[in-house]
Amino acid sequence: MKNIVVLVSGSGTNLQRIIDCTETGEIRNAKVSLVIADRECYGLARASKHHIDNVLIPRGKAFSDELEKIIPANTDLIVLAGFLSILKPEFCQKWDNKIINIHPSLLPKFGGKGMWGHHVHDAVIQAQEKESGATVHFVTSQIDEGGIILQGKVDVNSDDTAVSLAQKIHHIEYEIFPKAIDKVLNN
Ligand code: GRF
Repeated sequence: MKNIVVLVSGSGTNLQRIIDCTETGEIRNAKVSLVIADRECYGLARASKHHIDNVLIPRGKAFSDELEKIIPANTDLIVLAGFLSILKPEFCQKWDNKIINIHPSLLPKFGGKGMWGHHVHDAVIQAQEKESGATVHFVTSQIDEGGIILQGKVDVNSDDTAVSLAQKIHHIEYEIFPKAIDKVLNN
């Protein structure tokens, strides 16, 4: 059994999907062994409901160092699923090729500092893009610049708002995130 550690900051619907897919076997031969949040959020409750160890490390300067102490050495993959803190470069280097993130745009478009949540969707609409989507990628010390593992696209319609676009993109995330995790762990 491979061990996945998931980092969250929010409601954790992607975390839920990952847990479900480890249980159904869509993500093969793996379990979520630990959930870590950088703030109070519903992701922690989702972990508790599935009897998965979970811990809150308050966000801030010491976050990456605390994280390093807590992450078990036998961790096969660290998954950022709606996680808003920036990890220290040293941490990213130590876990090179073992940290992945999901970003709600078609990277390299609309990525980088400040591009999270509704900011991404607002910028996509402002730029009158015809399509957007989600990207699962490896995490490096350069924000949103690591190698791309999988992408999924959605159409952007003229009546789309940041809210409607976020909803469409969440659905595509639920498809590609488990596939990407399975690919990284089992291929
Ligand atoms: C997702 O849209 C993801 O792309 C972004 O944060 C959101 C997390 O949503 N990084 P949820 O907490 O999994 O519902």
